[in-house]
Amino acid sequence: MMHLLSLSDWTREQVEDAVRLAALLKAGPAGYASALRGRILLMMFEKPSLRTRLSFEAAMLQTGGHAIHYDVGGSPLGKGKETLADTARTASRFVGAIMARLYRQSDLVEIARHATVPVINGLTDVEHPCQALGDLLTLRERRGHLAGLKVAFLGDGNNNVTHSLMDACSKTGVNFALACPESREYLPLPEVAERTRRAAAASGARMEVVHDPVEAAAGADAIYTDTWVSYHHGADQKAERTRMLEPFRVTAGVMARAKPDAVFLHCLPAERGAEVAAEVIDGPRSIVFDQAENRLHAQKAVLLRLLNPQYHPQRTPL
Ligand code: CP
Ligand code: NVA
Repeated sequence: MMHLLSLSDWTREQVEDAVRLAALLKAGPAGYASALRGRILLMMFEKPSLRTRLSFEAAMLQTGGHAIHYDVGGSPLGKGKETLADTARTASRFVGAIMARLYRQSDLVEIARHATVPVINGLTDVEHPCQALGDLLTLRERRGHLAGLKVAFLGDGNNNVTHSLMDACSKTGVNFALACPESREYLPLPEVAERTRRAAAASGARMEVVHDPVEAAAGADAIYTDTWVSYHHGADQKAERTRMLEPFRVTAGVMARAKPDAVFLHCLPAERGAEVAAEVIDGPRSIVFDQAENRLHAQKAVLLRLLNPQYHPQRTPL
C-alpha cells in the first residue's frame, strides 16, 4: 500500500513524477474530470486549515469524487473513546483514502499501519509533504526545471514546512540554504538533517545551514519563510520565538541579495511585519497565491497516483 506520510519515503522518481503529473493536470487534460469518479476521501483535522482543506476537497470534486470533512476534536478518537487503530480500520471500510492533519507524526504512522487504504499527511508538527510537492511545482513552472536551483529558507529550521522542503530539495537536486538561530531548538531535527544529507549526496544538491540571512539569500532563486508561531505552538511561546527569529525576517534588503528575478514563497498563513515585511509579501516578487493554488494541482497528482495509478493524462487539444 502506497502512502504519503513523508516525502522521505518516496523515491526521487516518485517525487518528480508527481510534480510532472501535477503540471499536466493544471492544463486540464482529457478524462481528468472523471478520473476519481465515485471515490471518497476522508479528511481528518486536529488543527485549523484553509488551503489544505479547500484544496483537497476541490481536488476530489474536480476529479469526480467526494470528500468528507471530519473534525477529530468532536470524534470518538478526539474524546478518548476510540483508538487510532480502530478509527483507521473502520474508516477504511467507507472511504478510498484518508488525509489527516494531526499533531503527532507517530499518530499518522499508526493510522497508516492499521488503514487498508492510502493515507496522506496533511501536516503534522514535523512534516508537510503536500506543501513541499506544491512548492516544487511552483519552482518548476517558474524556472522550467528543478535541479541546480537554489532555495533559501529563513526562520525556524525545526519546522514542519522546513523539514519537508529539505526532503523535496535534497531529493530533486535543488540547492537549499537554511538561515536559522544557532540554538538547537531552531535547528532541523537531527534525523531530517541526516536523511536529507544522504538524499543530497545522491542527487547532487548542496544543503547548507547558516545563521546569517544574507549569506543564505545570496544568489537564491527563491526566498522562503513560514510563520514563527505554528498551529502547535502555544500563544505563550510567541514573545520568545519572535525575539529569536526576528533577525531572520524577510525584508526588501534580504530579497535584494537574491537573484534579480528571485521569487518570494510562503506556505501561508502569514503574519505581515513578523516573518515577512508587508512590502515583500504584497510586492511584485511574491508568488504566494500561485503557490497556494499549486497545492490543488499537486494534491490531485498525489490522489491520482494513490487511487488511480492507471490514469495517464493526455493534453487537451487546444
Ligand atoms: N499552507 C497550508 O497548509 O495552509 P492551511 O493551514 O491553511 O491548510
Ligand atoms: N508551520 C506552520 C505551517 C502551516 C501550514 C504550522 O504548522 O502552523
